[in-house]
Amino acid sequence: GKTTLLAPSILSADFTALASSIAVAENAGADWIHCDIMDGVFVPNITFGPFIVQAISRCTTMTIDTHLMIIDPDRFIADFIKAGSNQVTVHQEACPHLHRTIQLIKSLGAKAGVSINPGTTLATLESILPDLDLVLLMSVNPGFGGQSFIPSSIDKIAALDRMRCDRNPEMIIAVDGGITEDNAGVVVDAGADALIAGTAFFKAADPAEAARKLKSQSR
Ligand code: DX5
Ligand code: ZN
Repeated sequence: GKTTLLAPSILSADFTALASSIAVAENAGADWIHCDIMDGVFVPNITFGPFIVQAISRCTTMTIDTHLMIIDPDRFIADFIKAGSNQVTVHQEACPHLHRTIQLIKSLGAKAGVSINPGTTLATLESILPDLDLVLLMSVNPGFGGQSFIPSSIDKIAALDRMRCDRNPEMIIAVDGGITEDNAGVVVDAGADALIAGTAFFKAADPAEAARKLKSQSR
């Protein structure tokens, strides 16, 4: 089958050495660099904003995959795209007018994604599915890197894979949270096209080797 896309999450990198961390990801063959944006309201943590995304985008040709864990994301979508985000993913739980938000992202030239928390059903994606470039399924409760993969996520990935078949087969399924070399195989088998990996990549003894193992999973 096709090779799995790998998106290291910069959240687990050494922020005093951002440029070299990005170079490690790029040289390891990573496809996207995943930027976790947290506002301290939607999730119990605060990370960084467009200023850092712009710094990241200046030192790589990888796709900038921006995961907005913020309330009312419409206020900042243009800023993140100007900063270099190629893909912008918002949370279903944070968007009362999800269709409008997705159209806004697309109108500004970026790919559009929706993420759902472990406690949110796939049914909440039913209406928007045909409009999406990607779905980012959370396999941990968002807020922090380094948490354990929630096993029930596997059934959700498989169900989303069936759901996209007739509605939007081109849509990418990305899985985020607690991905390791040990669970990557079942995650990809269930239907994931892209693996987000913070700890498993940046905290690996040999990130290039970790990338090779994660990307070698295929259906
Ligand atoms: C969780 C973030 C994830 C996280 C992944 O709130 O959205 O992207 O940084 O890190 P690991 O792979 O360590 O779970
Ligand atoms: Zn994320």
